[in-house]
Amino acid sequence: MPKLRIASSKEWLEAVLGDFDAFLIDHAGCERKASATALSLVSHYPDRRELVQAMALLAREELEHFHQMLWLLQSRDLVLQRDEKDLYVQSLRREIRSGADDYFLDRLLVSGIVEARGCERFGQLAEALEPGKLRDFYREISRSESRHHAVFHRLARSYFDSPVVEQRQSELLDREAEILQALPVRPVVH
Ligand SMILES: [Fe+2]
Ligand SMILES: [Fe+2]
Repeated sequence: MPKLRIASSKEWLEAVLGDFDAFLIDHAGCERKASATALSLVSHYPDRRELVQAMALLAREELEHFHQMLWLLQSRDLVLQRDEKDLYVQSLRREIRSGADDYFLDRLLVSGIVEARGCERFGQLAEALEPGKLRDFYREISRSESRHHAVFHRLARSYFDSPVVEQRQSELLDREAEILQALPVRPVVH
């Protein structure tokens, strides 16, 4: 796991616990989008074999998370909502540089950082929940987002030199902390 520059705030956790239903609905949408993003990388880089294999697996796993979230929503009599703009992901994507190589590296690193933040947030949430199925579920989700971060980082390292990867990741992590701190506090994943 990369060292994220800052932990998520107490206020964020309180907002989530204060309107857990809203959080679950948003979380379900995030899993669906994560699966779609993995597939969009496949369609963008169809000839990069290692990437395609990794993204096919990732898309399946994120879709599985989405499915688990649908069951969870159903068990609470909740329904999916239309997606709202994800300011966090949009702001991070604005950091992606143009130019074939820079664009590719930044896409991998930004995707990896989103996974790392998911890991951190789901982990924090799990520890705040009562022992039981829901806590176990969030612990498991947190672990799998950590593995997803590692997948993107491994891909970046296999297509680019290590110092280039680490330097750019460090810059993006700095930006991520600024972006996170500027976000309104709401009961959503980001
Ligand atoms: Fe996921
Ligand atoms: Fe993930």
